[in-house]
Amino acid sequence: PSRIAVLASGRGSNLAALLAARERGDLPVDFVLVASDKAGAGALRLAEAANIPTLALDPRSYPDRRAFDHDLFARLAASGAEWLVLAGFMRILDGEALTPWIGRMINIHPSLLPKYRGLHTHRRALEANDREHGASVHFVTAELDGGPVIAQARLSIEAGDDEQQLAQRLLPLEHRLLPAVLGLLVSQRLQWHEHAPLFDGQPLLRPLTL
Ligand code: GAR
Repeated sequence: PSRIAVLASGRGSNLAALLAARERGDLPVDFVLVASDKAGAGALRLAEAANIPTLALDPRSYPDRRAFDHDLFARLAASGAEWLVLAGFMRILDGEALTPWIGRMINIHPSLLPKYRGLHTHRRALEANDREHGASVHFVTAELDGGPVIAQARLSIEAGDDEQQLAQRLLPLEHRLLPAVLGLLVSQRLQWHEHAPLFDGQPLLRPLTL
């Protein structure tokens, strides 16, 4: 099985979805490390309960972002991870430090990219009166939330939706999307390409809908 490290800053429901997919036998991977920039992250507790090694690094104990990121990526490499999954990791990563991982690192982002990179995606979709919202899984590059999009999950925005309701309705879709994309990657059906990801050897003209 492919060796996976997960980075998460918060609650960890997307990590839980990955662990559940593996438990069901749907995702042939070994989780070698769950790393966080927040010692109190729920994701770390979930990993401990699943007997997965954890790592909490405090950005405040480093002189700057580059120093933090270089240490983080050195430890991720030392874990033996072949793939990195950002599952609610809320820090911007240094472009130079992440470069060796391009093509082997994915992120889940709660918007239909290229719409709404960055924060407050649900609020921004509502403010724009969008009729549709969703989540995207993309390859991570130095451009924040700007790497090639692999797959998306979509939902309709209903009259009266607020930010919390939208986030809550999106979450179960995220929980299907992320394990599905990781499964396609580790089975090599999906491959990195700087212009468009390759799916079964063909460039993806638009993101997969999963
Ligand atoms: C998820 O909605 C994920 O898409 C989002 O944070 C949440 C994490 O929830 N990620 C980002 O906003 C990345 N910029 P979780 O901790 O329960 O998986």
